[in-house]
Amino acid sequence: MTLARPVPTPDGPKKAGMVRLVDNENGQELALLPILTGTVGADVIDVRTLHGQTGLFTYDPGYTATASCESKITYIDGDEGELRYRGVPIEQLAEQSDFLEVCHLLLYGDLPTGSEKAAFEKAITYHTMLHEQINFLFRGFRRDAHPMALMVGVVGALSAFYSDSSDVDDPEQRAIASYRLIAKMPTIAAIAYKWSIGQPFIYPRNDLGYAENFLHMMFAVPCEPYRVNPVLARAMDLILILHADHEQNASTSTVRLAGSSGANPFACISAGIACLWGPAHGGANEAVLEMLEEIDTYDRIPEFLERVKDRDDPSRLMGFGHRVYKNYDPRAKILRETCHRVLDELGAHNDPHLKIAMELEKIALDDPYFVKRNLYPNVDFYSGIILRAMGIPRRLFTAVFAVARTIGWIAQWSEMHTDPSQKIGRPRQIYSGETQRDYVPVDRRG
Ligand code: CMC
Repeated sequence: MTLARPVPTPDGPKKAGMVRLVDNENGQELALLPILTGTVGADVIDVRTLHGQTGLFTYDPGYTATASCESKITYIDGDEGELRYRGVPIEQLAEQSDFLEVCHLLLYGDLPTGSEKAAFEKAITYHTMLHEQINFLFRGFRRDAHPMALMVGVVGALSAFYSDSSDVDDPEQRAIASYRLIAKMPTIAAIAYKWSIGQPFIYPRNDLGYAENFLHMMFAVPCEPYRVNPVLARAMDLILILHADHEQNASTSTVRLAGSSGANPFACISAGIACLWGPAHGGANEAVLEMLEEIDTYDRIPEFLERVKDRDDPSRLMGFGHRVYKNYDPRAKILRETCHRVLDELGAHNDPHLKIAMELEKIALDDPYFVKRNLYPNVDFYSGIILRAMGIPRRLFTAVFAVARTIGWIAQWSEMHTDPSQKIGRPRQIYSGETQRDYVPVDRRG
């Protein structure tokens, strides 16, 4: 197999000026630091020489004010509610593209030509099957294990099966690892589901599209034919597109950090899956469903809304609000329509929990508490409802997110490996523990 295209190499941000750091006490200049500018978005202060000039480090827990890398992949404008992959607005991709085309765009920088698209789809399709031995790994897990536990374990274990695509300095091997990961993730997620419900594993079908095949592997059984509903396949494809990348979020930063040491690609993606598992990241759509189950009946909606508005109550309206988007999450806008289409198709508007969700959405969009705080439904609100209506169990939601985000992780990991300024990630700290003390033998302690 040959690499379809070289991954574009970052050519470095431009210098836009200098900023002077001055001691407030005596007016003495401490450091002169460059301001760097990208193509769009906020400029940054380049602090790489700060310690050399001043002996000081910066302090930024959670990296909320720190650009950790230069990237050409995804741009978000949280105030305007904009998301673009390689410059293309998410709305255009959602309407006109499909997930594998988006994978090509994220990985190589451009939408594929007709022949590139065919070659890319073929390359992904022919890597969907797992090494047969991997099926034994699943059988070693408890049936009630969380699917994300299986995903972390099995994806990490791919490193033991595919050593021919583990040399991260070889672009050809990086490409093959990328194809394998994009291709095998739906198979792994579907098997994790089948294992949890005690059904036979379903092998991938190469005549189906990516999202179609994913649904087929989850819902088909060997004893009868299964036809994938095209409305559901399109909705799944859309969910995959909308979750494909979100610049330097926690799991992507985890993949970059793990990869910065030159670690095995499959192990790096497993690290990303572990991070995504957390309820503050990929677990939010699962939390939306938990909330709907907690509210349970229509008449308890007003009481629940009072609770989320009460400052002394820690409850929140799950699936509302976003750390970056202070305007409507553009992904939520797109999924809202799809959500209603899926509910119509399945006649699921009468599902009591989905009815509660639709009523919450209606009330909250008009309620002054939410309006004043710019709290709009986020992508997790609608994806949770769609996945539930499709029959996907709540515990599998984050695994679907992991399938979608794998392309983002891989694209960012590949970009890092072609970035000449790439270094092993190694943050600093403010140490506030004991300075120095002597060892005390056990009989003289306490
Ligand atoms: N329900 C009720 N009140 C809320 C909510 C909510 N979901 N979100 C924020 N607020 C209130 C909050 O109490 C505060 O009110 P006040 O000004 O009176 O103190 C105000 O809005 C600002 O809140 P904040 O915590 O400063 O906002 P944030 O931007 O730091 O929080 C958030 C963002 C996503 C953590 C939060 O909105 C939240 O907890 N939402 C629910 C969980 C959720 O849906 N998470 C998924 C986010 S999308 C994930 C992804 O993109 O991967």
